[in-house]
Amino acid sequence: MTIREINFDNPALLSPTRSMPTSVAIIGAGTIGPDIGYYLKSALPDLELVLIDINEQALENALGRIENYVEKGLARKKLSPAIAHKVKSNIVTSTDYQALAHCDWVLEAATENLDLKKKIFSDVEALVRSDALITSNTSSLPADRLFSHLEHPERTTVTHFFAPAFKNPAVEVVEWAKSDDDLVDYIRWFFYQTGKVPMVTDDAVCFMLDRIFDNWCNEAALLLDVAKPSEIDSVTTEFVHAGPFFVLNMANGNPIIVETNTLQMEEEGEHYRPADIFNTISERWETIPPGAGVEVDADKSRIIRDRMLGILFSQTVDILDRNIGDAADLDLGCVLALGFKKGPIELMKEMGEAEVQRIMAEFAVWKSGMPQPQNAIASYWDYNRYILVSEVDGVLVITLRRPDAMNALHDDMTDEILQVIQANETREDIKGFVITGYGTAAFCAGADIGRFPTMLGDKEQSIEYSRSCSRLLVHLDQMTKPVVAALNGLALGGGLELATRCHALIGVSSAWMQLPEITLGIVPGIGAMVIPYRRWPDAADTFHGMLLQANKLTASQAVEIGMLHSVVEDPANLISEAAALVKTLKADGSHISGAPVRISELPEGVTMSSSGQVLSQEIIGIVSKAVIDAAAATSLNDALETGYAAFGDSACTAAAKEGISAFGERRQPDFQTTG
Ligand code: COA
Repeated sequence: MTIREINFDNPALLSPTRSMPTSVAIIGAGTIGPDIGYYLKSALPDLELVLIDINEQALENALGRIENYVEKGLARKKLSPAIAHKVKSNIVTSTDYQALAHCDWVLEAATENLDLKKKIFSDVEALVRSDALITSNTSSLPADRLFSHLEHPERTTVTHFFAPAFKNPAVEVVEWAKSDDDLVDYIRWFFYQTGKVPMVTDDAVCFMLDRIFDNWCNEAALLLDVAKPSEIDSVTTEFVHAGPFFVLNMANGNPIIVETNTLQMEEEGEHYRPADIFNTISERWETIPPGAGVEVDADKSRIIRDRMLGILFSQTVDILDRNIGDAADLDLGCVLALGFKKGPIELMKEMGEAEVQRIMAEFAVWKSGMPQPQNAIASYWDYNRYILVSEVDGVLVITLRRPDAMNALHDDMTDEILQVIQANETREDIKGFVITGYGTAAFCAGADIGRFPTMLGDKEQSIEYSRSCSRLLVHLDQMTKPVVAALNGLALGGGLELATRCHALIGVSSAWMQLPEITLGIVPGIGAMVIPYRRWPDAADTFHGMLLQANKLTASQAVEIGMLHSVVEDPANLISEAAALVKTLKADGSHISGAPVRISELPEGVTMSSSGQVLSQEIIGIVSKAVIDAAAATSLNDALETGYAAFGDSACTAAAKEGISAFGERRQPDFQTTG
């Protein structure tokens, strides 16, 4: 299987060939070692963590660091006291490698030096079981160079984390010639189950994401002939949350660009030579914090922008042309791991072929030798960016993958789902579809709230947005092959609206559902005020409470009202049970009634959500009217139009403006003032 094929599969579909580790050792108690340790302990609180370093003080600092994270987790209520206690317990520190001899997995996070690392791995191999996993957190050194000398290289590879490793979900997992076929699958499965987003890469120097990061920083340093660090940072914040020099300062000024770019230069050519200034400057760069911005002369700004985009696009096409990594992972990895506002391929697509060609051509003049596209420019953005598609026993499994936004839906994502369904629904060998979410927390956290501000205040645009977001849902209503929603976690707002348009829903026992729109000062416009009432009319009171007070519905409650077909006890079986359910269903459009429906009366006098938030009376009025009108509508289409119109009405209220701003600013909205 090539990297490309592997990455299209949801890791939840993998069957692990090993169990969860019970003891993991980390060698290197610098910054990233303890951060990886904290991630492991918070994901697996009972795990034994063995921290090894040659420096006693580093070990003590590492424990302090972990303690500090636990305190923060407690203060933010992310950890319960009982779990916090377990996270802090069962951590062994030692300067002696004997302490790791019994571990199931040894993860090296020492200095980026090939000879040192090779020696560490030889020492480790002499102590651990022949099947113990050995991985390196190197950001640049190929597995082939690190592990080939070992007696059992088949249990080794690179697992490359990104700072801060306890929080940043991206991890590169390197597939290399001598590792066991099952190894990469097991590691992908492990990371997925513990909340990470594993990205498989080829064993090229600097793998995938460091090629972007190191060359991005190196190009910034080469631009210092033309501009100051603050100017370069200022211009690049069009594309990244923090400019390259600010990021370099976070890693104390001058991290490993010299080493990594030298590796690339030796392997791939002079054009990768590290900027001289990295050899002479070791102090912090004089720059500005993100958001500050400085005035930059227009010509200078254009040079900076074009050259930074030139290096970014050059590395992007090279990674894809050489199949070092997969396009969806590359875009997502740049966002998750490197702080890009958009992935480079998305940027290329937005700029269009002609502009990308201009940037690349000018860059080639400045830096001959740097990779240029080997394929037609538009072919680079021909892939699914927000979904994974896998086939399970004649059923197509579509996985929503936006881990940075809890798989929130936007029109690009729904378009991708629709295209995959349309391209496969007439295939005789495909019995139907499963839609599920990536990760263990969320099926889908609703419509992407980040996209709302642009349409607020514009009724027609808002109605059109709802209608256009509904194209997938309306298609689902009319399908002749069944679709099952497999709820792997929370399903909120638009996520629940998507799920309730599927022919059946099943979920894990921890899945829960909610329509939180009322707490945002808007209404759920793409079916929540219509479909549940038409499918499960006896549960109208439950839906009134969900719409008007944002009441939560647990998986077992959803089974009771008939909304959920069943609860899957073991989350590992969710997709296979969903696929089995697909085969028992018929799709003929009869699951949603087109006729008017009698529903119980809506409650009056609601003022607060179930969590005690004061609500907007204006929005309560819009929801209530829409529910009554939709129930009375004589066709499904008319009922749905009522919902789109109500969304348009809500989008023009002061409450919507306040609610959406409050979400962005992470504060409680004030609907008392807005009404
Ligand atoms: N649209 C866009 N981004 C969303 C989102 C949505 N519907 N739901 C979550 N996210 C983003 C968050 O903004 C956050 O991004 P950040 O890390 O860049 O700040 C990230 O997903 C993780 O969410 P966070 O709130 O930090 O996680 P949590 O575990 O504390 O809470 C939720 C999870 C789902 C309860 C919370 O995110 C939430 O209430 N989301 C909004 C749900 C909603 O109202 N949906 C209906 C939309 S109309």
